[in-house]
Amino acid sequence: MHTSNLVSFILGLAPLALADEDLQPWRISQLRTFSPPDREGSSPWSLINITIADPNGLIVNPASCATKWTLEELPYGHVNACSDIPGGQWTFAMLESDAANPSPTTDFKVRFELKKGDEAFEGTENFKVGDNMRGLCSAGGVCSFELKEENTPFLVTQTRIEEAI
Ligand SMILES: *[C@@H]1O[C@H](CO)[C@@H](O)[C@H](O)[C@H]1NC(C)=O
Repeated sequence: MHTSNLVSFILGLAPLALADEDLQPWRISQLRTFSPPDREGSSPWSLINITIADPNGLIVNPASCATKWTLEELPYGHVNACSDIPGGQWTFAMLESDAANPSPTTDFKVRFELKKGDEAFEGTENFKVGDNMRGLCSAGGVCSFELKEENTPFLVTQTRIEEAI
């Protein structure tokens, strides 16, 4: 290889490698779950609602990621689309935690994926009441859990994933 080719080879690769290391973690500004009262005639839906943003860009557009489920059909593994943002598409899936008593409202994992053009990134984090979440139940039996204030914004480490094109 000629020296000039070698130089452009190095110069061409270096920015890519640096860009990867310079990725800022995603930021969750809100994460809330709700579970319904265990009572005849009440709404059967549990839900989760997350606001997440990718700070790696000139304009940061938060996306809203929400889904609902019933106790008969737990949400684990379903890939859900988040709200549309310009230039990207977020999806998320709830995953069962490794804990002894996993629950999709109080102890669970979430896997986020962001596609930007032909690039794709993923990040998975654990959310647990008593750890990074807290909550309370109303007298009527509706329970609501959210990120602790001291854990907000919550940072999600993202990694680049290879994609078949
Ligand atoms: C999720 O939260 C956002 C912001 O608080 C709200 O606008 C939206 O309606 C919520 N979505 C659901 C399904 O609750």
